[in-house]
Amino acid sequence: MASESDVPFDSEADGLSELSILGYPETRRKFIKQVAGTSAAIAIGPNLLSAASLDQAGATSAGGAASDSVEVNLKINGKDYALDVDPRVTLLDALRERLHLTGSKKGCDHGQCGACTVLVNGRRINSCLSLAVTHEGDEITTIEGLANGDELHPMQSAFIEHDGFQCGYCTPGQICSAVACVKEAANG
Ligand code: FES
Repeated sequence: MASESDVPFDSEADGLSELSILGYPETRRKFIKQVAGTSAAIAIGPNLLSAASLDQAGATSAGGAASDSVEVNLKINGKDYALDVDPRVTLLDALRERLHLTGSKKGCDHGQCGACTVLVNGRRINSCLSLAVTHEGDEITTIEGLANGDELHPMQSAFIEHDGFQCGYCTPGQICSAVACVKEAANG
């Protein structure tokens, strides 16, 4: 005959195994299941969220496939372009991803670094903060449009002469900014 000590301990059947979680009685097994489920949700959640935001970023940055796209006519470096873009596409993304004018760089994408600076009607702007659709009819100049054929713009030559390139990543933005800066000073 089995003695009391030979009976395996049944934690579920044991009334003492009930835990009180947030004021509700729960069994240990239920509690562990809930903790495991919550941990999985915490672990997977950020991945799902980032996948969703990447999808959204793709829709806004590629700008070609959206069904609610609008047509915009841009004049860039003296050439006319007609584009169908998602209205949320920035000028920087339209330049780089649609027109392959990759001289303007994406650094912070938040208007803080200036790597994306282009000239619009002679004024410098951060193209990452400006929607492409707002530039209908504007004269846009990027770094690709400063040189005259093989002849560099004087500001480009000055950067070379005075070793102003540094790593080179944001240099196009700096040169565009410098061109407008000198013009602004000349205009008073
Ligand atoms: S990418 Fe940094 S200001 Fe536009």
